Amino acid sequence: MRVLTLVALFAVAYAKHEQYQGWKSYYVRPSDQTQLRSLTSIVQKYKLDFISKASVGRNAVVLVKPQYNDVFLRELADQTIAYTVHVNDVKAQLDIEDAQLEARKSITKDEDSTSIFDRYLELEEIDAYLADIAKKNPDLVTLQNGTSFEGRPINLLKISKPSDDETEKPIIIIDAGIHSREWIGPSTALYAISKLVDEAIEQDLIDELDWVILPMVNPDGYKYSRTTDPLWVKTRSTDNDEKSVECPGADANSNFDFYWNLFGTSSDPCDDNYAGSKVHSEVEVQYGQQNLEEFGYRTVLYISLHSYGSQILYSWGHDGTLSQQAFALQTVGISIANAIQQNAKPNYPRYIVGNSALVTGQQTSGSTVDYLHYNGIPLTYNLVLPGVLDNTRGFNPDPTEIEQIAKETWAGIVVGARRAKDLFGNWIK
Ligand SMILES: *[C@@H]1O[C@H](CO)[C@@H](O)[C@H](O)[C@H]1NC(C)=O
Ligand SMILES: [Zn+2]
Repeated sequence: MRVLTLVALFAVAYAKHEQYQGWKSYYVRPSDQTQLRSLTSIVQKYKLDFISKASVGRNAVVLVKPQYNDVFLRELADQTIAYTVHVNDVKAQLDIEDAQLEARKSITKDEDSTSIFDRYLELEEIDAYLADIAKKNPDLVTLQNGTSFEGRPINLLKISKPSDDETEKPIIIIDAGIHSREWIGPSTALYAISKLVDEAIEQDLIDELDWVILPMVNPDGYKYSRTTDPLWVKTRSTDNDEKSVECPGADANSNFDFYWNLFGTSSDPCDDNYAGSKVHSEVEVQYGQQNLEEFGYRTVLYISLHSYGSQILYSWGHDGTLSQQAFALQTVGISIANAIQQNAKPNYPRYIVGNSALVTGQQTSGSTVDYLHYNGIPLTYNLVLPGVLDNTRGFNPDPTEIEQIAKETWAGIVVGARRAKDLFGNWIK
């Protein structure tokens, strides 16, 4: 019986990951800014993919299609950029990870475990958790939603304790899951919710601030990444472009109205960095814009959870110039990084804090962080969580690391929230 189940599992997995037959991934370590820029331009030239973002002196992880494998390695060698193999057989690795996730699911069920931070949750489990916490805390928590392209709710949890004098409080916004395959983000957002609502240890965070948390910005993509393609990044929308039936979805984090489709994005629906057919073409992005209108004027800190890379990144992403808030962005970013570091495991890399284009060597446009900063939110960050550690295989951290990552990140968010309130809280009065 046991053997039969396993055979059945592998059969499903086999059919599932066939498109990754022959793919490999590499650790690539640029030693200086010139190598970093060379690496990102090689990756762009062959439309390859960073699983873990690049920065100087760190191992990035690059996913390489078979047809570009030789030329990719040749170009790295030409530039004397150091690399080693991360995963030699991507399809086999994805099959292994699927089997591990399945095995873990049944263990969790058997033991009737109540922890939600020991595995990657199904979309329905995340939605149920949010509905439950809203139901149990009606005075503190409100659940709102938008609707995804395929009709799923995009849940938004508001945590707001009525104040005695009815003054409006500064808001902290946290979101996750805009990139489907970055599974650690939604877990980290749920952990923040549990700390704020269930445990409520840091009372000042509730007394003096309101929180808006969207743990799953792109539910269609997440669903697809869990059921069909674990490396899926985009939404699942189709539009009038004839290619969009064959290649659905856009990179929602390139679809916002900030230098849209001018830097680091693609106009080809089949690319992972497709910017969409027009500004705000994605309904998930339209919901983001609506939220900016509702909450933006009170928001002092916005954190978008991404992975992987252990980086805290800020504007401007399109050209590496700095905003008027650069000093605050850097100092608060460092405070967040230090708080995380104090709670991190020794084998986790230290966070790097800086301008996103300079740190990663990669230009971006139409991102949430730039869009919200441009529209007046003083502190906006991509918090790129740790994940693919040196000398590990796989594309998401082992589920045993989820709670640790969520916990240390929460320590950083606490410090960031307090600093943001002290620096900018009086702006909104
Ligand atoms: C979304 O919110 C509306 C109220 O605005 C509610 O009636 C509906 O049940 C919610 N949908 C889901 C799927 O949670
Ligand atoms: Zn991301």
